[in-house]
Amino acid sequence: MKAVAQAHTNIALIKYWGKRDEALFLPMNSSLSITLDRFYTTTGVQFCKDLSKDIFMLNGELVNEQELAKMTRFLDIIRNYAGVQEHAIINSTNKVPTAAGFASSASGYAAVAAASTKALGLELGGKELSMLARRGSGSATRSIFGGYVEWQKGEREDGSDSYAKQILGEKEWGLTILSVLLESKCKKVSSREGMKRTVETSPFYSGWLDTVEHDIYSAKEAIRNHDFDQLGKVSEANALKMHATMLGATPPFTYWQSGTLAVMERIQELREEGISAYFTIDAGPNVKVLCMPNDEERVRAALLHMSEVEDIYSCHPGPGITYLPE
Ligand code: DP6
Repeated sequence: MKAVAQAHTNIALIKYWGKRDEALFLPMNSSLSITLDRFYTTTGVQFCKDLSKDIFMLNGELVNEQELAKMTRFLDIIRNYAGVQEHAIINSTNKVPTAAGFASSASGYAAVAAASTKALGLELGGKELSMLARRGSGSATRSIFGGYVEWQKGEREDGSDSYAKQILGEKEWGLTILSVLLESKCKKVSSREGMKRTVETSPFYSGWLDTVEHDIYSAKEAIRNHDFDQLGKVSEANALKMHATMLGATPPFTYWQSGTLAVMERIQELREEGISAYFTIDAGPNVKVLCMPNDEERVRAALLHMSEVEDIYSCHPGPGITYLPE
């Protein structure tokens, strides 16, 4: 009744932005990501007969009621799936700088899905695990797999065809992803709320949907051919389109700050200087920069000179779920 699993976070190159079903976490569009080696969550889950409620420890401390309720809601889905009733002790350690645009919910829910199902003796394949992780947070769907991953949106109402698949293994193409940290304030609009508001109110959302499946096609073609410039261009354009939808929402919002724009501009200048680097941005002010490993030091040096930049973490494609000894 006990198991430990580790899941890594991921950065979307073609973004998941908008749900067609909020309860089942079914996306409006397919998305594509790279699982990162550097940021991960390790979670132990133990189901016990005598517990009257779940106990959730994060980084060595009991979480607040709100966080506990979210975890219990997720574990209820797992309990229902497995046909059990026992409550659990969940012990998670996050090696992810939280709430600064690094999606710890992705690695967090992927790790709980893997550890809890293993603790209950279920031997699930990646597809089933990915669908379960999806019920905790959309981006967790992709963190089950390592390397380059696509989450196919699916068509069915019950979500049984909405899961992730690996496109290319983490060792098969070594890109660098520099996570540029600008500031560590909590974000004001969560990605959950932000995408909901955009779907419901932004006149630009239909433009997003019109082109995102083509972006997926182009990114997959680039990955298949190891064509870095094609992948960088489509990723940067896709991120800009996602952020553009938010400016049309009511009320409008943006995750960008002045430092975000400064880094974006610097990356565009680096390209004019002949360095092939591209950016992407999630639901926060930080910027992730894609480059080839050969250019990593030059890009890093250029960005570290900027007053807006607090820190830079260098990441590479990382593994999917792993199980650790208890
Ligand atoms: C901008 O997975 O955090 O990072 O499904 O509501 O938990 P919920 O949202 P979440 O959204 C991620 C949005 C994004 C793009 C992406 O990771 O694809």
